[in-house]
Amino acid sequence: MPSIYAANDAACYEMSMGRWSRRLAVPFIKFAGAGDKLQSVLDVGCGTGSLAFALGNAAQQAKITGFDYSQAFVDYARSHTDDDRFSFDQGDAVALPYATGSFDAAMSMLVLNFLSEPDKAVQEMVRVTRPGGVVAAAVWDFFGGHTFSRILLDTAAPLDPGAGALRAKHCSPLTHPGELAAMWKSVSLREVEQAEITIRMVFNSFADLWEPWLGGQGTLGAYLLGLTGDKRQLIEHHTRLAYLAGGTDGPRSMASIADWGCIVAQPIDPKPPALQTDAASSAVTNPAIGAKTRGCSTPRSSIRRRSGHIGHLLSLLDCWRPPVAAMAPWHYRALRA
Ligand SMILES: C[S@@+](CC[C@H](N)C(=O)[O-])C[C@H]1O[C@@H](n2cnc3c(N)ncnc32)[C@H](O)[C@@H]1O
Repeated sequence: MPSIYAANDAACYEMSMGRWSRRLAVPFIKFAGAGDKLQSVLDVGCGTGSLAFALGNAAQQAKITGFDYSQAFVDYARSHTDDDRFSFDQGDAVALPYATGSFDAAMSMLVLNFLSEPDKAVQEMVRVTRPGGVVAAAVWDFFGGHTFSRILLDTAAPLDPGAGALRAKHCSPLTHPGELAAMWKSVSLREVEQAEITIRMVFNSFADLWEPWLGGQGTLGAYLLGLTGDKRQLIEHHTRLAYLAGGTDGPRSMASIADWGCIVAQPIDPKPPALQTDAASSAVTNPAIGAKTRGCSTPRSSIRRRSGHIGHLLSLLDCWRPPVAAMAPWHYRALRA
């Protein structure tokens, strides 16, 4: 399935999005619990390598494989490391060229909403992740949490019907809170954990926001490049007014929210690996992520967010599972012990 994301100039992508995705990668890795215990991680839709290189720092022993549809981005990422822990491959996320269960973790950042068949890509991520491994993805909340792109699209829509259509496409699918988690559940995954984070994009001036788009990368860049000069100038003029908001040109800080989801992939395995239990705390350690969960498989961050009596009740509910025979094809090491 051809990519709908314009990605032929890696240096321009770095200016328009790579500089922000590098910042997002660090808390995303923390959320997914990807740390030193990992031996192998796949970054699906790696782009110029923001997540892959950050994973290289967080998981010092791990082999990191980046995978992207864009040959230009893959070449760029390859050319930015001589560390043989990293490798980068080109291809389509809906047909990953890796053996079943070959990674400790499969992650994807800012990609799934740009795919025409995101559920197939998620199924592939789960397939290539070993039992007990982690599958995690993040997408921007383009509808309600992405000032950076809405400032352009909301300005351009009344001036150009094409921008209205692009805005509708940009804001769907998977771009609302909880949508990613719902899609994952719809493809028979269990124990979806979700969270969100806000980062701030700080632009030095209007030009710092506008000019990287003219490199033509991504959906917004491709849209602007496709306009006639007059139309583009008109939209630039009004977008500048929106950016300035009555002030003089200079720095502006814009919030961007990313939603992310994480699961522990646990295909039914006739010989599940032995649990490592910590008798003192009756906690279960997931060797893939080093995360301890108390008597159930709910990831650590979910437990942490819940407190008091209601939190305790929710945690207990999380521990309940139907009999194994009635379960969907994915479940957890803690349950099977
Ligand atoms: C917004 S960029 C995100 C890149 C990188 N993960 C980051 O955070 O900077 C979207 C990426 O998805 C890739 N992509 C789009 N369709 C794809 C597909 N079908 N298979 C693999 N990668 C795809 C694009 O080439 C692009 O690099």
